[in-house]
Amino acid sequence: MRQDFPVLAGDDPPVYLDNACMPMKPEPVLRAMDNYYRNFPTCGGRSLHKLAFDVTEHYETARGQLQRFVGAADASEIVFTRNTTEAINIVAWGLSLKRGDTVLTSDREHNSNVIPWHVLRERTGVRYAVVPSRDDVYFDLEALKEALTPDVKLASFVHTSNLDGYTLPAREIAEICHDAGALVMLDAAQSAAHTEVDAQKLDVDFLAASAHKFCGPSGTGLLYGKAEALAALKPTFAGGSTVRNSTYDGCEFLPPPSCFEAGLQNYGGMIGAGAAADYVAGVGRDAIHAHEVALNERLTKRLAGMEGLSLLGPPEAEGRGGIFSFNLAGLDGHEIAMDLDESANIAIRSGMHCVHSWFNSRGIKGSARASFYMYNTAEEADLFADALEVTQRTLGGSAGAPRREEQSFA
Ligand code: ALA
Repeated sequence: MRQDFPVLAGDDPPVYLDNACMPMKPEPVLRAMDNYYRNFPTCGGRSLHKLAFDVTEHYETARGQLQRFVGAADASEIVFTRNTTEAINIVAWGLSLKRGDTVLTSDREHNSNVIPWHVLRERTGVRYAVVPSRDDVYFDLEALKEALTPDVKLASFVHTSNLDGYTLPAREIAEICHDAGALVMLDAAQSAAHTEVDAQKLDVDFLAASAHKFCGPSGTGLLYGKAEALAALKPTFAGGSTVRNSTYDGCEFLPPPSCFEAGLQNYGGMIGAGAAADYVAGVGRDAIHAHEVALNERLTKRLAGMEGLSLLGPPEAEGRGGIFSFNLAGLDGHEIAMDLDESANIAIRSGMHCVHSWFNSRGIKGSARASFYMYNTAEEADLFADALEVTQRTLGGSAGAPRREEQSFA
């Protein structure tokens, strides 16, 4: 399917291994957006002309595509958002939590599932608590049970970690949290692109995901909520399209999902997001996962003896999915990433991957991270391994050497 991705189908394509951040966009997604902007670039849900009806029809079709993609029971359980971060914020503010209520997360959350709780704590007195991982990096179900005091109203957990590819046991977590009376939200930003995600089977109350991480247009995402969970949320962003009627004295909100989609929407983006969901589902997420693990296993075996290499996350590739996050003694992750880019046209990510809290708590400055997707090849995995050996020799990293000064961007 590489031919579907214009950047990869060019003459001198990059070896693109920054897929955990954002993958490339395939032709069907580009065509779906192009169709909107060329043929009916108008506003949905309001005007009564044919162009506007076209928008509404395509927009609601996209909602249905996303519904199927995350296993929601009904399309009305899908709220269009800009990203996972916005989806989590809608829940954070919409639950009307009060002083003394507690929100629980794991210790490997992206900032999207950390910063909202800091802000809520500062402004409302809500408590924010963290379940520590076991020393061997795996999730600690016993620590979760201990942390679930009666004041925990929401447990909000990452599904697959973007820092090392580890996937938390979401179904078990949801069951334990529900038994303790807490609502459960899953941050599926990283998982939805790479593994089957079924909100009903996982039995979570809310699920947040970013469509741009599953080949959708940038700045598109979704919030899933069980019908009763969404109905209990208060709209945070309010305005046009969220109400049935309004006066100077008050308003009557529409039911979900409309009450959460304030103002003129990113119609072209969401139509593209729906196409992306169908594209990824068409390739098959079980097949994508198996392919990524095979590439990761090949890379892990190939680099096993590399001097000064330390891997983040579970030792076996299966436990890290498509993510190979690492440090080389004596070298800074940013230096490695820039050298690979300049010398071998290989794109990876470096730094703290927006999981500052995890790195800071362990006194680690960050990592370099290569991440695979459906279109990467065994040849690219080998090219990366070859280039990394050259980078190590060129930059002079070796076991025990002092780390170079970290650069100022995160
Ligand atoms: N959180 C995204 C990443 O892991 C941006 O790169």
